[in-house]
This record gives sequence, structure tokens and C-alpha cells, in this order.
Amino acid sequence: MGRKVTVIGGGTMGCGIAQVCAQNQIKVSIFDVSREALTVTMDNISRNLDRQIHKDSIDAHSRDRILSYIHPVAVLEQAINESGVIIEAIPEKSELKLELFGRLGFMTGSDVVLASNTSSISITALGTEAGDPRRVIGMHFMNPVPVMRLVEVVRGLETSDETVASVIDFSTELGKTPILVNDFPGFVSNRVLAPMINEAAFVLMEGVADLQAIDQVMTLGMNHPIGPLALADLIGIDVLLSILEVLHNELGGDRYRPCPLLRKYVSAGWLGRKTGKGFYEYPEYSTK
Ligand code: NAI
Repeated sequence: MGRKVTVIGGGTMGCGIAQVCAQNQIKVSIFDVSREALTVTMDNISRNLDRQIHKDSIDAHSRDRILSYIHPVAVLEQAINESGVIIEAIPEKSELKLELFGRLGFMTGSDVVLASNTSSISITALGTEAGDPRRVIGMHFMNPVPVMRLVEVVRGLETSDETVASVIDFSTELGKTPILVNDFPGFVSNRVLAPMINEAAFVLMEGVADLQAIDQVMTLGMNHPIGPLALADLIGIDVLLSILEVLHNELGGDRYRPCPLLRKYVSAGWLGRKTGKGFYEYPEYSTK
């Protein structure tokens, strides 16, 4: 696997993935749909690093060094040039990801690993679309990427042993702990997590308790570091809704039916921290 990495999609997750690559002295190019989006991406990465300076976890010199490893590139062909691994982190929409993997399959050589950070979409289907399922794999980072240790490595039906081994090594090189799971809707993480958050939204909608009370029951009573509704805001309510839709469509039954409150918030543009409002309000995040 070549040293350079490409991240496609510079939103919440793409920013974090690029930052972690750069922190580990790996050159990374980042591609997003527009130049404006890329500017926001680079601003967000700088802001994240500035927060670390305030917490004294890095100094200004390290921030500049980390930023020097990250190259925003507005043309996909250029962004993927010479990369050994491409990590896709675009919105959780099947049609978008399938289209992109179809293109990436054509645009890259047989030694390039095509990884998706999808939360729930089939890695096997992305592999089929790419035309070479052996080199397609899930690299499911957790949010916030610089902080969370896990990478859920998702093996598609035809992902090769070689691809699995190289992604496990790469995740370890990034300072993460890779856990290998098989491709199935929601994998392990979101199969377990998304229904819990969904249930918290139903509990709120039904008036069983207010926002703070629901989150406090789970933080104080279950020792969760963050309550489920605060976590929904961190993940992005649109992302959460997409995950639940995949679980509901693929696994059937009422168990994964998205709470109507989630749909209502997404329609209103209340997506969580990235829009400054979700279940809670975040004036400091209101730019994206
Ligand atoms: P986001 O909505 O914050 O960012 C998506 C980015 O992709 C945006 O900057 C958008 O401009 C860009 N984009 C859209 N279409 C594109 C295209 N065709 N080519 C290039 N860029 C494109 O989404 P977020 O939260 O970063 O999620 C990305 C992926 O990571 C999703 O698959 C999501 O399920 C997954 N994920 C999200 C987590 C979270 O907590 N938000 C946690 C783990 C995985």
C-alpha cells in the first residue's frame, strides 16, 4: 500500500480522518464536491487543531506541521493520484456511494485499497459496483476520529485477505485499534447503537421525560460518557436517520423504524452540532 492517502468527503468524519493521517506523518489529500466545501473543510481542521492547542495537547508548531501534510484538492483525478488507500466519507446515501465506487473502480489500479467509512451501507454492494470487490473494505472510524480508538474493519463477502491485512496494519499505524467484523447492515456498532438512540428519541417524543433527564439517566445510571440525544447531535441527525433507514429496509420489522421526531428535525435542518442545532443548541458550531 502506497504511503499517500486520499479522503473523499470533508465533513465531520473526513476532517477527522485526514487530521489523524496527518498527525501520523502520512500525506493526505482531501477532496470534496466544491472549492467552497474544501475551504470549510480546511477551516474546520484548523479549528479542531486550535482547540487542541487550547487544551495544551499540541503546540502551534505541531499544528502547522500537521496542516502541511493535508492537501485540499478540488479535482478527484488529482486527489487520488499516487494514493495507496482511498477512504470515502461522503453522505450516508447508497446512490451517492455506489456511483462513486463505480468511478473509483475504473480510475484506480488493482493495488489501490478502496475503503468506505459508511455506517451501515453494504460493503459487498460497493465492491460489486467497483468491479473488483477484493480491494473494497469498510474502515468505520468513530466520531470524533482523533479521540476514538476504534476502527471497525468491515470485510465484504469477497474482500481479500490481503486487503484485510493491509487495512488492519494501516489502522494500527494510525494509532487505532482495528476490530474485524463481517458485512451486515449496521455492522456491530450501529446495529447496537442506532436502535438505542432511536428509542431515546421515541421516549422524548412520547413525553416520558425531557431531554436532559433522558441523557442523565444514561450517563449517570449506565455510565455512558455522553447521553444518547447528545450523541445523536454529535453523529448528525441526518446520518443517524440514514443508518436507521438502512437497518429498517434491510432487516425489516418494526424494531428499526426511525422515530418521526428524527425526520422532523432533519426536515427543519436541525442536524445537530454541524448546523448549530439539533436536540440541543450549539452556537459555536453554527457555520457547518
Ligand atoms: P457530513 O455530511 O458531515 O460530510 C459529508 C461531506 O461529503 C460533505 O462535506 C459534502 O460536501 C461531501 N460530499 C457530498 N457528496 C460528495 C461527493 N460525491 N464527492 C465528494 N464529497 C462529497 O457527513 P459525515 O458525518 O462526515 O459522514 C460521512 C460518512 O461517515 C457517512 O457514510 C457516515 O455514515 C459515516 N460516519 C459518520 C459518523 C458520524 O458520527 N457523523 C460516524 C461514523 C461514520
